[in-house]
Amino acid sequence: MSEQIGGFSRNTDGESLLGGSALKSLLSPQITTPAYFYDLSGIFKRVSQIKAAFGDAPHLIAYAIKANSAASIVKTVIEAGGGVDAVSGGELQLALACGAQSRDVVLSGVAKRDDEIRLALEKDIQALQAESVEELQRIAQIAELTSQVARVSFRINPSVEIDSHAHIATGHDKAKFGISRRDWNAAFAKIKQSPFLQLVGISTHVGSMLKTPASYLRSAKVVCEVAQHAQAEGHQLEYVDFGGGFGIDYGDGPADPPHHFAAEALGILKTEGLGHLKLVVEPGRSIVGPYGALVAQVIQTKVSGARRWAMIDAGMNDLLRPALYGAPHRIEPLSQQPQGEESFRVVGPVCESTDDFGDHDLCEDPDYVVIRDAGAYAFTMASEYNARPLPDEVFIRDGKIVHHSPSPGIDSWLAARLKA
Ligand code: LLP
Repeated sequence: MSEQIGGFSRNTDGESLLGGSALKSLLSPQITTPAYFYDLSGIFKRVSQIKAAFGDAPHLIAYAIKANSAASIVKTVIEAGGGVDAVSGGELQLALACGAQSRDVVLSGVAKRDDEIRLALEKDIQALQAESVEELQRIAQIAELTSQVARVSFRINPSVEIDSHAHIATGHDKAKFGISRRDWNAAFAKIKQSPFLQLVGISTHVGSMLKTPASYLRSAKVVCEVAQHAQAEGHQLEYVDFGGGFGIDYGDGPADPPHHFAAEALGILKTEGLGHLKLVVEPGRSIVGPYGALVAQVIQTKVSGARRWAMIDAGMNDLLRPALYGAPHRIEPLSQQPQGEESFRVVGPVCESTDDFGDHDLCEDPDYVVIRDAGAYAFTMASEYNARPLPDEVFIRDGKIVHHSPSPGIDSWLAARLKA
């Protein structure tokens, strides 16, 4: 089976396609740049492919909704059989409003507020994934006040270093995330002490952008060891959660596809004698990243010295990843194959020198460009900096636009700021 399903491609005329549709032809007076386009069919197939890797084994694909929270996408993931990993009360509410079953939702997050804990208890979700002994204590107190038994997991910090960007590694000793090894005993003691806590799972998330499963599996093994200990102590565990972090190819080299990670994870679970437990994984980027594209117009080009600049109408406020992490994104002419000889420095209009998308091969007199792999951590991290309204979002299924969420526009920004 081909590893690429849907997403970005080009036709024989060199035009950019997303999910089979020519992006240029989708622009109209109603849909203006900068605009995000998403291939819902590709997302559906991606989730289905991961599900298939689990076969009959009990599992939950808890989509990390922070990657892209557009309802059209969340509903697509749920229709394909996925659940949700939320990291705030807002994300939890969105997941349920999009039709997720409460037992298909986990709540992660290093500092859940009291109201978020109350909401999770009220909705009776799969589990609150506790990230510290102190948090377990707060969950117990809140559960006692509402006379409930809180379903919790330990989100452990497995002390595993990963080969990824420092800002997206979460499972090492100095990270703020998770219950560190030295506190595991105290966490078990807290569960024993409190009649208001029920330990139902052991979870982790080791970091993002893993190109191969090696470090994922090392951290999964640590989760299994803690789960075995929990069972030996008499806890009736329901699941283990190995987290997300499956990488994608941003043009910097291929990544193992998410269903390979899933198959390997299932292998570890079985080898560790825990095949009776539900296996939860929390992919975000790999479900949506390749299925989004940001289309921008070139406002003007400029030549200064030896450098040619292309100033586009999408900026760091629309797509923050390059400015924040130095993250690569392929930027190409919208309507023709890059020729490999027209190098431009592509920048946005925001008054910041980090509003810079790097050097890319465009064509002579470029008009529109496509920024590839912009489905994850793109719109969700966008802002209105420099009075730039959030961009349009367009959803494509089976090659047709099924929904358009227009930019709120400058009037909405003005009205809000005039009220402040
Ligand atoms: N589970 C937890 C608890 C997480 O914190 C994350 C991501 C995920 C799952 C999903 O990871 P994924 O499969 O998407 O790699 N803004 C950054 C990525 C931050 C990831 C934060 N946590 C970026 O643009 O690359």
